[in-house]
Amino acid sequence: MNVLITGAGGFIGSRLAQALLKRGTLADSTGQQKEISKITLLDITFPAEKDRRLDYVLGDLSDTALLAATMGTDTTSVFHLASIVSGGAEADFELGMKVNLDGTRALMDACRQQSKPPRFVFSSSVAAFGSGFPPVVDDDTKASPLTSYGAQKVCCEYLTNDYSRRGFLDGRVVRLPTISVRPGKPNLAKSSYASGIIREPLNGVVSRCPVSASTGIWILSPSRVVDALIHAHDLPASAWGVNRVLNLPGTTATAGEMVDALRKIAGDKVADLVQWAPDADIQAFIDSLPVRFKTTRALEMGFVADLNVETMIRDHIEEQGITI
Ligand SMILES: NC(=O)c1ccc[n+]([C@@H]2O[C@H](COP(=O)([O-])OP(=O)(O)OC[C@H]3O[C@@H](n4cnc5c(N)ncnc54)[C@H](O)[C@@H]3O)[C@@H](O)[C@H]2O)c1
Repeated sequence: MNVLITGAGGFIGSRLAQALLKRGTLADSTGQQKEISKITLLDITFPAEKDRRLDYVLGDLSDTALLAATMGTDTTSVFHLASIVSGGAEADFELGMKVNLDGTRALMDACRQQSKPPRFVFSSSVAAFGSGFPPVVDDDTKASPLTSYGAQKVCCEYLTNDYSRRGFLDGRVVRLPTISVRPGKPNLAKSSYASGIIREPLNGVVSRCPVSASTGIWILSPSRVVDALIHAHDLPASAWGVNRVLNLPGTTATAGEMVDALRKIAGDKVADLVQWAPDADIQAFIDSLPVRFKTTRALEMGFVADLNVETMIRDHIEEQGITI
């Protein structure tokens, strides 16, 4: 099994690479677990610290010659995570189109050059929904993006379905909730606060929450999302059928509930580091996203969510070795 992870220098991609190393196998086209022989990471930037068990390729996803050289003809599995995230794609339309749409298409075309259609796992987003969705989004709710990022993701969902139908690749698209708690620094995603209001106070730093306490968000932990990507890969094609696009299970929490959970776990001194600092632009974006989902299909396919916000915060504390 030769695996390519794009966006592997990023938050989810780097975790996925470590999880695959630990696990050592993935399902092949017959569904048998087979040893992973090589994991190649592609990104325009990587952390300084490298893992010698991984192959690092520094370069742009939309560079077709680089993709051909990197993938050869024997790549069996592609996890496509490279992206210009929501705020970035909204701020720079050209860049968002180049990476999120053109880059994805270039990658899909590189999949066509493989000796067998690779399993292709693509991380879409709940930003696929932006207008006219019901109070509870379900498996039949149609995509209705209201941002360039969301529109680019939905275009690639359609392409994944069509490339799968044609047998060019074996696609699996998971629409990710907002991932929380994300360690490290804030990123350009408009939902970045959903990690910031937990992460920063636990580090003794003030966090300004740009949305109101009653604003809900649909979230999933870093560990669960990595599990979901691997599960999406390993399911047989028959489990997906013609519709290769799935809303992942998650948890609904308001900013206020997240801070309350933080208070319960870490005390007033920590929770009081959250300051409420409304930002109309971010509030409008978050308000445009669905908050409640009924993910029947994903649950039936064996995907799982976190128990609740408290367990998500406790997982972060344990993983980061934070002392309360
Ligand atoms: N984290 C979340 O809350 C969330 C929610 C929904 C969807 N997603 C999706 O999941 C995927 C991974 O998200 P993440 O949180 O790890 O993001 P991230 O920003 O940490 O990682 C994305 C990576 O893509 C790389 N990249 C950007 N342009 C590139 C290019 N031209 N060529 C190669 N690499 C390029 C970046 O350098 C970065 O390392 C993305 O597709 C994102 O849209 C994430």
